[in-house]
This record gives sequence, C-alpha cells and structure tokens, in this order.
Amino acid sequence: MQAELNTIVAQVGEKASSITTRAEFEAFKATISGPKGSLTEVMKGMGAVPKEDKPAMGKLINEAKTAVQAIFDAVLEGLEAAEMAARLGPPIDPTLPPPDAGRGTLHPIAQVREEMVNLFRRIGFSVAEATEVETEHYCFDALNIPADHPARDMQDSYYLPDTLKVANVSQHAEEKYLLRTHTSTVQIRTMLEAKPPIRIVAPGRCFRRDTPDATHSANFHQIEGLYVDQNVTLLDLKATLDHFVKTIFGAKAKTRLRPSFFPFTEPSFEMDFFSPDLGKLSNKWLEIMGCGMVDPEVFKAVGIDPGVYTGYAFGMGIERIAMILQGVDDIRYYYQNDVRFLKQFA
Ligand code: DAH
Repeated sequence: MQAELNTIVAQVGEKASSITTRAEFEAFKATISGPKGSLTEVMKGMGAVPKEDKPAMGKLINEAKTAVQAIFDAVLEGLEAAEMAARLGPPIDPTLPPPDAGRGTLHPIAQVREEMVNLFRRIGFSVAEATEVETEHYCFDALNIPADHPARDMQDSYYLPDTLKVANVSQHAEEKYLLRTHTSTVQIRTMLEAKPPIRIVAPGRCFRRDTPDATHSANFHQIEGLYVDQNVTLLDLKATLDHFVKTIFGAKAKTRLRPSFFPFTEPSFEMDFFSPDLGKLSNKWLEIMGCGMVDPEVFKAVGIDPGVYTGYAFGMGIERIAMILQGVDDIRYYYQNDVRFLKQFA
C-alpha cells in the first residue's frame, strides 16, 4: 500500500506542472480524490487491512492526502494568479514616455492651483493640508455652523456609515464622519496645532451632493486662506485679495467687497472683480470668493483668545478661477480627461 501511495503522490506532482485550466484541474482531481479516484480506492482498501496494521496504514494515507492537497492548493493558486493577470491585461509601465513623445503636463486645475499657491507663498503664506474625510465637528461645529444648517443635511453632504472608524481622522467626541464640504476644515485643524502668527493657504478637494451641470460638480477643489495675528484688520484682507486678483487676472482688474454672511466670519463679504481683458466676461462684476474677519466663536472653539488675536479668512473654488482664466464654460470638461481638451493647456 505504501508503494501505491507513493506512486499516486509522485503522479500528482508530475501532472501538476502541466495543468493550465480549471477544467483540466477538476478532471485530474477527480481521477485522484473523486469517488472513483485512485487515492479513494486505496482508502477503500482500509477495510481489508488487519486491525493491528490499521494505525500505521491510516498514518500513511493521511500523509499522502496532505501531500496531494498541498499540490492541488498550489496548482489552484497558480491558476487564480493567471486568471487575474489575464483580466488585468498586459503589464504597463507608467514611467515610460507617452507614445506621442510629448512630455506630460499638469492638469489645468492643478496648473491654476499651483499658480495660486505660489502667489501666496511669495507673500509669506505656507501650505497646510488636512484629510478629505472629516468629522462634523471640524467641518461644521468648530466653524460656528449650527446643527440645523442645510449643509449638515444628509441630502447635501456625503456622510460615512455610522459603524466606520477612520483611524487617521481624530474625532472631537463621537460625532459622524463625512467627506469635507469645504477646505475651511483646515483652518480649524491648523489653529488647534499652531500658535499665532498663522498664515496659511490650504488647497484641496471638497465634496457636495450637487447634481452635476455646467457649474456644479459633486467633487471640486477649493483654496482656503487664513491669517491670524495681533492687529490683523480688514485692510490687510482687502490688500492681500487685491494683490491676488491683480496678479492672477492682470493689473487692470478692480475688486470690491460686498457684505455677505458666513457663520465663521464677522463681518463677512463676497469678493467680486471686474476686468476689461476677459473676452466674453469682460467688464462685468464676477463673484469669486467668500471672505471675512474670523468670528470670535471660531477662535474660542480652537482655544485662541479673541481678545488678543484677530484674523481674516477667505475661501474660493479653484474650478471657478480656472474657468474664468482658461475660458472654459463647462466644469465637466475638467473631469473627462479627454486629451484633446487637456492638450490645450500644455
Ligand atoms: N467655506 C466657504 C464655502 O465653502 C467659503 C469661505 C467663505 C471660506 C468665507 C472662508 C470665508 O474662509 O471666510 O462656501
């Protein structure tokens, strides 16, 4: 019986390397361990083995079964890997140069983001970042946005399942997680970590439940700005934003602040600009961002004394600026990754 078992194991080992399909595998497996398989037949012979020899024989059979199973497992693993490779298609090397020999360029949104960030860097701002997954506290409460604000509605924001824990996003209490609806979250996370003076811009991706159209996308980008120090005034805000607009849109551009409301700034404004050199958009006031002086309630939420410090904040959509600058009239072009569109900004 020992010899028989050895032969079976050897036979399985030999055949294994030539199996290339699951059908072949199943058919071969049946000839070994199926109801009429060779290994099964040997096991059936156990009945005729004298009682005193049974333990030794049982041991040999078990060893053979284990050896055969190990080979079958390896074959199956190989077949699965081959199937996966077939599904993935031929291997690609993303580091190879593109077939049309052109050099890649930044996406048009990234180009505008870099231009804006570099501008602010030159006047003393550094770049801050936080996660795209946030909690209600950092996205809303700490920014003085009340519980009944529409943005907090399930219909307006993307909430994560209640059962999920996100290890790298700290919660304030046990509040819900969501995808951040604006980059103002970075203000809060930054002020909790750094002491004034603080001067940051925070570019990043934001998410809202919008029905996509020419000017709305459920996923878009913003740049947030924050400056906190002693004696920061509205004049500093106006001067900085003026500089921003004139650098991005040209020296002839004019700006104006219009009273508005945001829960996290008081007073709050919309900033508009006007330019004679914008093609179809020339000579009309275009709204480009929200801004204002940091609300004392926000300072209290992050442990900064509003009696000592003041600050300004602003936030704008990168797509909005990019569309004006690049003459793009439908936001969806930015996300379709059609090279005919992208190449125009190379
Ligand atoms: N977070 C606002 C939004 O997403 C934009 C904004 C407005 C940011 C005013 C600010 C600000 O920092 O002061 O609509």
